[in-house]
Amino acid sequence: MARRRLVYEGKAKILYEGPEPETLIQYFKDDATAFNAEKKDVIEGKGVLNNRLSEYFMSGLNSIGVPTHFIKRLNMREQLIRAVEIIPLEVVVRNVAAGSLAKRLGMEEGTALPRPIVEFYYKDDALGDPLVTEEHIIAFGWASQQDMDDMVALALRVNDFMSGIMLAVGIRLVDFKIEIGRVFDGDFQRLIVADEISPDSCRLWDIESGEKLDKDVFRRDLGSLTDAYTEVARRLGVLPRTGAGQAGPKLVH
Ligand SMILES: Nc1ncnc2c1ncn2[C@@H]1O[C@H](COP(=O)(O)OP(=O)(O)OP(=O)(O)O)[C@@H](O)[C@H]1O
Ligand SMILES: [Mg+2]
Repeated sequence: MARRRLVYEGKAKILYEGPEPETLIQYFKDDATAFNAEKKDVIEGKGVLNNRLSEYFMSGLNSIGVPTHFIKRLNMREQLIRAVEIIPLEVVVRNVAAGSLAKRLGMEEGTALPRPIVEFYYKDDALGDPLVTEEHIIAFGWASQQDMDDMVALALRVNDFMSGIMLAVGIRLVDFKIEIGRVFDGDFQRLIVADEISPDSCRLWDIESGEKLDKDVFRRDLGSLTDAYTEVARRLGVLPRTGAGQAGPKLVH
């Protein structure tokens, strides 16, 4: 097989050229980073779990008419996606105060918000992904007013879908981040959900116990990240029977 052309290697994923124009192959690595890559580790099986989980959420979104870049999963670590022009913003939706919002506004983590709050962060590692407002986004041309309206609508639909799915398995969707990209269909352009949706990019708390089942387990050294993600996958029924990362029978020593 001819060597694939590498398009981009990020902290958690690698993008390769896809088999057809306007497609890419997204490879999920086991690398975990936090605090703008100050904290790093390799968590065995994380890539396999995130590939599966992102497939599950994105194909569900596609099926209810929320457009995403997901086309199909290729294997344990790779999926075929539509290439997009990424809007350089992280779109965050919050249902419950946590993380930087709790810190910035002096709110106690776990305080329910009166309504979902949509925030935008400028994607720039060197600046630590700063919070920006609509004024900055439009003035600097990162997105238009129409794009802003479309991004908020898209983000809120993802929030409703994800909140419902999680609620059904006893998990509270505290907040999440998505990336959005532009695709061109002839003269038309539209915005679709890109990148990944996984426990790396969501805050997920068990409704009963409050236990964290997301990347905060890694950020705050709360235990095994693989166990937490495996639990999410298990509850959703998307885990391969043999467990995280193992495609065959377990060897007995
Ligand atoms: N459908 C897509 N088309 C083009 N680029 C995409 C698509 N989906 C995701 N990307 C980009 O691919 C990269 C995925 O790699 P990864 O998440 O590891 O990056 P990262 O280290 O977090 O860096 P970044 O700050 O660029 O997100 C990101 O830059 C993301 O914006
Ligand atoms: Mg990323």
